Amino acid sequence: RIVAIDGPAGAGKSTIAKALAVSLSIPYLDTGAMYRMVTYAALRDGIDLKNESGVADVAKRMNAVMSSDRFFVDDVDVTDIIRGPQVTEAVSTVAALSAVRNELRVSQRSWVENAGGGVVEGRDIGTVVFPDATLKVFLTASPSVRAQRRVAQSGGDVVVIEEQIRQRDHLDSTRADSPLRESSDSLFIDTTDLSIETVVKQIASSVNSIESKSNE
Ligand code: DC
Repeated sequence: RIVAIDGPAGAGKSTIAKALAVSLSIPYLDTGAMYRMVTYAALRDGIDLKNESGVADVAKRMNAVMSSDRFFVDDVDVTDIIRGPQVTEAVSTVAALSAVRNELRVSQRSWVENAGGGVVEGRDIGTVVFPDATLKVFLTASPSVRAQRRVAQSGGDVVVIEEQIRQRDHLDSTRADSPLRESSDSLFIDTTDLSIETVVKQIASSVNSIESKSNE
């Protein structure tokens, strides 16, 4: 049982994916945090982010541990720092490197296999990582609402944040390797005017109806 949740920054993916995982009683995997952990480790080691094999080596070498809500790289708790401005600004550059994506894709697939399924959140989960997921969801929201949500979560100036989000979305959707793209068979939800609860219920009921159809 795999639910793939993709969409741009601030569409509500994390909040919704976490709540959905609880409601379906399956594990939750935040793949954006994995790209953030690699970015953190590459910056820590002073690796030029355009040095693809150098950054991929860091991804291979680092010991990344994810618990339900904390993230550790080489035994350091990086939960807060991976959401900070330095990592956030650099992460799209790292996420565009194919050698890094190949590395993380393997980890993501084995994580889900070991966990026996999960709600997996990212940009290329339904299109590339788990094209045969039970359900693929594409979440979006208007850019200004996405920026307002980020500001409510982590502070900052809404105009600046909106511009950063637009830049990151542009990089994420125009890169050559597995760009952010809606899969043709995904459930598309615009969360601009919807509550978290409504969206979670809608996705959970889609999963249940898919599963009851396949059990018929
Ligand atoms: O969801 P997030 O903001 O934590 O994601 C961080 C970055 O990682 C974002 O710029 C897109 C990239 N990413 C990706 O390319 N593929 C994924 N599966 C998840 C995230």
